[in-house]
Amino acid sequence: KSSYPFHGEHQAGILTPAPADRQNASCFVAFDVTAATKAEFTDLMKTLTARARALSTGGAPQDLGPSYPPADSAVLGPDIPADGLTVTTGVGASLFDQRFGLADRKPAHLTPMRTFPDDSPDPAWMHGDLLLQLCGHNQDTVHHAIRDITRHTRGGLQLRWKIQGYNSPPRPSGTGRNLLGFKDGTANPTGGDAASLVWVDGSGEPAWTKGGSYQVVRLIRMLVEFWDRVAIAEQENMFGRRRESGAPLDGSKEFDIPNYAADPDAAVIPKDAHIRLANPRTPETADQQLLRRSYNYDLGVDANGNLATGHIFTCFQQDIQRQFETIQDRLAGEPLTDYVQPFGGGYFFVLPGVVDEKDWYARGLL
Ligand code: HEM
Repeated sequence: KSSYPFHGEHQAGILTPAPADRQNASCFVAFDVTAATKAEFTDLMKTLTARARALSTGGAPQDLGPSYPPADSAVLGPDIPADGLTVTTGVGASLFDQRFGLADRKPAHLTPMRTFPDDSPDPAWMHGDLLLQLCGHNQDTVHHAIRDITRHTRGGLQLRWKIQGYNSPPRPSGTGRNLLGFKDGTANPTGGDAASLVWVDGSGEPAWTKGGSYQVVRLIRMLVEFWDRVAIAEQENMFGRRRESGAPLDGSKEFDIPNYAADPDAAVIPKDAHIRLANPRTPETADQQLLRRSYNYDLGVDANGNLATGHIFTCFQQDIQRQFETIQDRLAGEPLTDYVQPFGGGYFFVLPGVVDEKDWYARGLL
């Protein structure tokens, strides 16, 4: 689609478009909020809302005349296309310190991101008061948007870290592949299941959070040179799926459902296979499921001459502890950990949607 609606009960970029149809280009940008007072922060949120609305809608920028700096970078030409842009705005736990007097309004499950046993944390790539997830059909659209937003919010927001992501189209069919060569996103919940796992419904939470969602971002380097030397059978056992088709090892087609009950001794899908640990498919673990919406990243070359490339893992859920952390704890020490290195990211609360022209991000919070 050329554009996605900006207004609604929920923000775009989570279920719209559906993760399986997500835009090809993205960037994830974390900021420190430098606004000094609650009033300044309120103005900042209004400005951010206005820019996100304008950019997601598209249209010609204002003409200020030749004696002024141009209103727009013109990276997308004179008439700005929406080009499928979605702006998804979240806030980190650090925003709820003493600064703006918001401590008692913090979402119940928002904490700083934990460090997990196999992590190699790099503070330069972690946390933030505010996170923008920008997705669009082309990378120049995403660049144009972040440039516009930083220009209009100078003084209130300071860039902290930023990473660009791209998405693989079906090759040759079905779900796109990650940089380890496996289809990624196959078993994502869809439709009503996804909605009931993702949106905060207000229970056990401050009322203003209703319609929002918790977002986890994990920047995960992939040691691709090392991976490419692993036998296919071992790669497939690590995930529990076939590389070519994406089918579970006990099935034949990508969307076949693994049947662990029929394989109690794990003769077909190993006990420590990624998919079996991530989702054991038992009644007790049903409410732990989450919605993944990940992208590939490429940061060039590391100091040793290896490709600095990997996975921007991102997922959405109602409760980070019940969903992401439970799964992540179960994945600790899985065979895949030898080939990946989580180094950054953070936990954020995606604000409820902006419902109409008069509404703005965080109105209920402030
Ligand atoms: C499934 C890759 C990290 C949770 C999968 C699949 C692949 C994959 C190939 C199977 C296809 C699919 O259903 O999408 C990776 C890679 C990772 C990574 C390469 C790291 C670089 C994580 C993390 C979590 C996670 C950090 C959450 C804590 C899941 C879940 C499933 C899944 C819930 C679906 C399992 C199912 O319902 O059958 N992942 N993953 N993954 N992954 Fe990951």
